[in-house]
Amino acid sequence: MSKIILTGDRPTGRLHVGHYVGSLRRRVELQNSGEYDKIYIMIADAQALTDNADNPEKVRQNIVEVALDYLSCGLDPEKSTLFIQSMIPELTELTFYYMNLVTVSRLQRNPTVKSEIQMRNFEASIPVGFFTYPISQAADITAFKATTVPVGEDQMPMLEQCKEIVHKFNTVYGEALVEPEILLPDNKACMRLPGTDGKAKMSKSLNNCIYLADTPEEVKKKVMSMYTDPDHIRIEDPGKLEGNCVFTYLDAFCKTEHFAEFLPEYNNLSELKEHYQRGGLGDVKVKKFLNQVLQAELEPIRQRRKEWEKNIPAVYEILKKGSEEAQKVAAQTLQDVKNAMKINYFDDNNLIKEQVEKYK
Ligand code: TRP
Repeated sequence: MSKIILTGDRPTGRLHVGHYVGSLRRRVELQNSGEYDKIYIMIADAQALTDNADNPEKVRQNIVEVALDYLSCGLDPEKSTLFIQSMIPELTELTFYYMNLVTVSRLQRNPTVKSEIQMRNFEASIPVGFFTYPISQAADITAFKATTVPVGEDQMPMLEQCKEIVHKFNTVYGEALVEPEILLPDNKACMRLPGTDGKAKMSKSLNNCIYLADTPEEVKKKVMSMYTDPDHIRIEDPGKLEGNCVFTYLDAFCKTEHFAEFLPEYNNLSELKEHYQRGGLGDVKVKKFLNQVLQAELEPIRQRRKEWEKNIPAVYEILKKGSEEAQKVAAQTLQDVKNAMKINYFDDNNLIKEQVEKYK
């Protein structure tokens, strides 16, 4: 069986380092591993509209931002198909048929939807489109017969729902859909990188994100003001690692080589952590190190972004080509789905014969 990846992001803002360690970095590795037959990366503008219905301009502006972030991280249009969700009308059609296979109470139990409803104060009036987006996400995945969906942990309930839909479809109508597997980040720090203020989630509204497109000065400023251990007041005091974002970020970004390059007094991250816990290591020194590590990782991304920013029409051309290709694939799956459901009234000679018999 072919190995096929599909994943994507909502274009509601620039991508940040949480997206990077949680997903983007992995995608590029998977792309370059040569182990996958096809890789589809989708800009989920239609999904973004499910909770931004009154702000289509925001979504429209951020499509190119997300595409630039993709390209600058090393996603290569020669190897991966980058496309825009709304350009594939087949996805909406699949969603409509899948809706019959899901109950309202099942959607209400989806933990990601639940917490998003709270976050957006939708409790009193949930837009139907938003409520049903897990179904549309199942359409995104199955349209491409994806076997592997690399995403963050928060997307686990979406994958569960998708599998249920696939299972139900295949049971009711016959095997037409492929059941996908989730691929989570392998490092715990990468699963959910906290905001620079120590809050669990990075979010634009909390102003606690480091963006891939931030300048070196912005990154440095954000690192130097990061939340650490509030009880680590004097250098001699023992420091705590739990909830200390500087160390969480080091867990996510630091490679052993960085020590030889930037902090040769230590051989590796465990030595640095031990010293911090023992006492005698100041926050500023650790922050300066983290800044160097981040700059080393982000600089090539920034450079590539600058190059692509000079050629915006080429970016749109990549998305257009990718969307054309993706549309053909989704059209084939939709055909398979309709055949399985016998929604093929004009290509089914038996149906006509049957009806002729009936009226004899
Ligand atoms: N829900 C994803 C996010 O918020 C975006 C997305 C839409 C997606 N469709 C998808 C991710 C299909 C993986 C597979 O970022």
